[in-house]
Amino acid sequence: MSAEMIDGKAVAAALRAELAEKVSAIKASGKRAPGLAVVLVGEDPASRVYVASKAKQTVEVGMLSIEHKLPVETSEADLLALVEKLNADATIDGILVQLPLPKHIDADKVLNAIVPEKDVDGFHPMNAGALATGGVGFIPCTPRGSMRLIKGVKKDLSGLNAVVVGRSNIVGKPMALLLLNENCTVTIAHSRTRNLAEVCRAADILVAAVGRPKLLGAEHVKPGAIVIDVGINRITDEATGKNKLVGDVDFEAAKAVAGYITPVPGGVGPMTIACLMENTLDSYLRATGC
Ligand code: GUN
Repeated sequence: MSAEMIDGKAVAAALRAELAEKVSAIKASGKRAPGLAVVLVGEDPASRVYVASKAKQTVEVGMLSIEHKLPVETSEADLLALVEKLNADATIDGILVQLPLPKHIDADKVLNAIVPEKDVDGFHPMNAGALATGGVGFIPCTPRGSMRLIKGVKKDLSGLNAVVVGRSNIVGKPMALLLLNENCTVTIAHSRTRNLAEVCRAADILVAAVGRPKLLGAEHVKPGAIVIDVGINRITDEATGKNKLVGDVDFEAAKAVAGYITPVPGGVGPMTIACLMENTLDSYLRATGC
């Protein structure tokens, strides 16, 4: 048996098309467009690619895109001042400060300075708390996108065993909470977990978010499981000597056992930006009372 591939690229494109239609109707009624501000500090090549991609897709769905590209030596005070300005800007519904930030800037201080109502990354403690307690907030984009892919395969997750490998604030913890909200029995595994393969093999839904290339193989996958690979790892291909992207899951090995699996690239990755657009539209609708 070979797993069915979950086409994140196609699901993301469909979501963006849906959002574009909604934005188009908003603008047709004479209202302002939703606006997203993205702030990049420094020259990190991967961050530049992500930020360019975010800006392009924001424009494509019909939203206002504002980019602030600041030099690497920007002070924490100047960055905080920019965040304050964007907090007060009525044309901006979402603020995203691209991570990682340079070492001289306290990232938590900056992320906590974004008003929770515009924190479309869902990183602010108010939004993390809302997810944990069932309130209204923003769900971080990668877990939101991953959950959309899971629900595309199976609508009712009640009672299923879910294992999340990784405990980051950005992916692992919010992913576990989303699965719990769907009535899954949730385990969070991490670098200190004993018998990782055995723990993972109990999972009807296995989410890998550790940032370790091909950590999970066939022995970690329950036959028929839904496998969601959040990892984006750059490695050198031994055969060609070229750089390539691989996930936290050994795709070929896991595919032979799983029921459904996301590829890397083309799985969770495209969903993250599409869900950023979705969060921005949600923010706009809350701000304008539509
Ligand atoms: N850097 C890598 N992924 C992300 C993300 O989802 N949000 C932000 N702000 N920075 C990132």
